[in-house]
Amino acid sequence: MLDKWLALQLLPTISINVLQPLEEIFLHSFSYPFWLVKSDYQKLANFVKTEAKETVQRAQTDFNLTEEEAVHNLLFILGFNAFGGFLIFFISLLSSLGEQKSVHDELRKEVREKLANNVLSFETVQQMELVFSFVYETLRLNPPVPSQFGRARKDFELSSHDAVFQIKKGEMLCGYQPLVMQDPKIFENPEDFVYNRFTKEKGGEKLLKYLFWSNGPQSGANGPSTSNKQCPARDVVPMTAALFLAYLFQRYDEVAISSTSFTTLTKAK
Ligand code: HEM
Repeated sequence: MLDKWLALQLLPTISINVLQPLEEIFLHSFSYPFWLVKSDYQKLANFVKTEAKETVQRAQTDFNLTEEEAVHNLLFILGFNAFGGFLIFFISLLSSLGEQKSVHDELRKEVREKLANNVLSFETVQQMELVFSFVYETLRLNPPVPSQFGRARKDFELSSHDAVFQIKKGEMLCGYQPLVMQDPKIFENPEDFVYNRFTKEKGGEKLLKYLFWSNGPQSGANGPSTSNKQCPARDVVPMTAALFLAYLFQRYDEVAISSTSFTTLTKAK
């Protein structure tokens, strides 16, 4: 249901390589009618209304939203941001895992050592710095949402390593993360997948402030807030991915992946 709803919103903005100008005229010139997804959307809205009752209630009492507004906003976050984001990210995570077979043993060792006397959870996974580094490196090389834009709210100066740009209020700025996160002045061998790049041993903590997949730095006090457009799931996304990897390595002695499908899964004895 969400796939169809997502496709209808994204199709007017993405290229599917149909002969131009046909694509522009027939696919990119108008928004598609809601009735195409109406019945499924209604089912999803009813699901949110019943399953997120407490949150919908809180939106009304604490934030003065109507029930309708709360339900649609929650459904948008669930379907577009969360489901849409992970749909892209989990595929590139699996793809990195398939390509980096030589580091599986080391990752498995870390997971099992940290879980020797513990149960896997959002708390215990945070001790697994190699697993986190692997996740961060995947986000660095394959940011799931590569382009961002924003309109300047005031005049200001934008600095790079070696230049200063005068930005005027109202100008539109565009950022392209794959380029930013492969800056050779910041990242050594920027094009290589270095699975332990973000570990303490490698001095990786200071690199987190240059990890921008969430439309803002992964570390630092200036995190997601109402005055920026940084992803509010900045911390939850890497943590969920780390939890997924840790679960795989805890449960299986061998994992092999070919073009994002599992080809071998040997259960731990
Ligand atoms: C792998 C998963 C995810 C990725 C890659 C991702 C990425 C991003 C990015 C790049 C932005 C900034 C977009 C812009 O340019 O304006 C953003 C914004 C946002 N994300 Fe995420 N996100 C993910 C998961 C989630 C989840 C789980 C939530 C649920 C809480 C979420 C909620 C949001 C919201 C509400 C915004 C808009 C923030 C604003 O404009 O103030 N995202 N996300």
